[in-house]
Amino acid sequence: MKISVMGTGYVGLVTGATLSEAGNDIVCLDIVEDKINQLNKGESPIFEPGLDKLIKKGIAKGNLKGSTNIEQGIVESDITFICVGTPSKKDGSIDLNYIKNASSAIGRALRHKQDVHTIIVKSTVIPQTTENVVLPIISKKSGRKRENIGIGMNPEFLREGSAVKDALKPDRIVIGHADEVALNVLKEIYKDHDCPKLECNPRTAEFIKYASNAFLATKISFANEMANMCSIWGIDFKEVAEGMGMDSRISPQFLQAGAGFGGSCFPKDVKALAAAAKSDKIGSKILTATLEVNESQPKIVIGMTKERLGVLKGKKIAILGLTFKPETDDVRESRTEIVVKELVDEGAKVIGHDPEGIENFKKIIDIETSNTLNEVVKGADCLILMTEWKEYLEMDLKSLKERMNGNVIIDGRRALNPEKVKEAGFDYKSIGLG
Ligand code: UDX
Repeated sequence: MKISVMGTGYVGLVTGATLSEAGNDIVCLDIVEDKINQLNKGESPIFEPGLDKLIKKGIAKGNLKGSTNIEQGIVESDITFICVGTPSKKDGSIDLNYIKNASSAIGRALRHKQDVHTIIVKSTVIPQTTENVVLPIISKKSGRKRENIGIGMNPEFLREGSAVKDALKPDRIVIGHADEVALNVLKEIYKDHDCPKLECNPRTAEFIKYASNAFLATKISFANEMANMCSIWGIDFKEVAEGMGMDSRISPQFLQAGAGFGGSCFPKDVKALAAAAKSDKIGSKILTATLEVNESQPKIVIGMTKERLGVLKGKKIAILGLTFKPETDDVRESRTEIVVKELVDEGAKVIGHDPEGIENFKKIIDIETSNTLNEVVKGADCLILMTEWKEYLEMDLKSLKERMNGNVIIDGRRALNPEKVKEAGFDYKSIGLG
């Protein structure tokens, strides 16, 4: 099938590359020339395991290419996936400007084409956006009759770090369609996937995405609240989570307590859903609480640090982990940012380490960094673990301790082994550990 993909962020690139792998003819469209040039050289503009390989293969085979000529890309394809960003406005509500611009561009392009064209929204959008925003703009700008347009909504459930795997082997595929044209197109595109497929209307598809992300974020905040109780009552939440996870109705996933959730999806999506519910006068007590717990978790890390070090002014604190989770260079909404800002405000001397995220983090806060652990811990009064990179779980604690000035480790992810840390001579404090 001839498919154009609008937006070469991580959703657009992964969608384009995996659909080309499945044998479709793909053109990825973006106004940013540098990204398109990189793509056409067979390189991935973002760091995502497995993506480089798929892009290289698609470009070499000739069924994947990038273009800045958006109109031509749309006209020469039969299907367009909208994969542009849906950032938050200042009040947390969804900013649909990129969606509206993409819809206008599609509408304008379709004036120069006769055949039926199908538009599939993949971007995460508040329920009713596909039917009440995207479709009307495309209809108006193209001047087309409704029967000449296929319109659908097919949310992505991609995790950064395993997005290619998630796209090639999804748990489920949600086929939101407003007409038979979009239904048939999506069924054909995903015919080789043997996972469960749910057919529904676009607003249901849009909501499945939000409700899934909101549920997972709430599960994390719930785990964090339980972990905070454990800290007071002398219980290890890790064991509690293990016991809870043995119930198949609960599952062990997303029960890891710590400094909270970050990234480009959970904080933005929960805020957008809460804002939409508020503006439609339904409100959401649970989502509000989910966000509140998430905001307070990094403060607990600061509180534990102060409890151990007393006044932070002049203390040297080494931060291990700058990214919002391991195996990514993404620092968006990273909980580390909140912790570092607070420590710097208190006058501490902060030095950061991360296997992949230093460059991106320095664009937000220009702290001192080093990419060798030995260097970072030198003379430190305290280590704070903020991201559970494998490298930190395997570090040689004894030799690190010898290079430090103090002996405090604050574990913001309940990731280290308390016995081993104590054996190495550390004073260990963790979220969720009594
Ligand atoms: C998420 C969703 O999983 C994905 O389906 C959606 O499409 C986009 O958002 P991602 O943002 O890549 O994916 O990260 P994820 O692995 O889900 O983790 C999100 C955040 O939650 C991270 O900051 C992580 O550290 C935190 N988290 C996750 C916890 O604090 N505890 C957990 O048990 C799990």
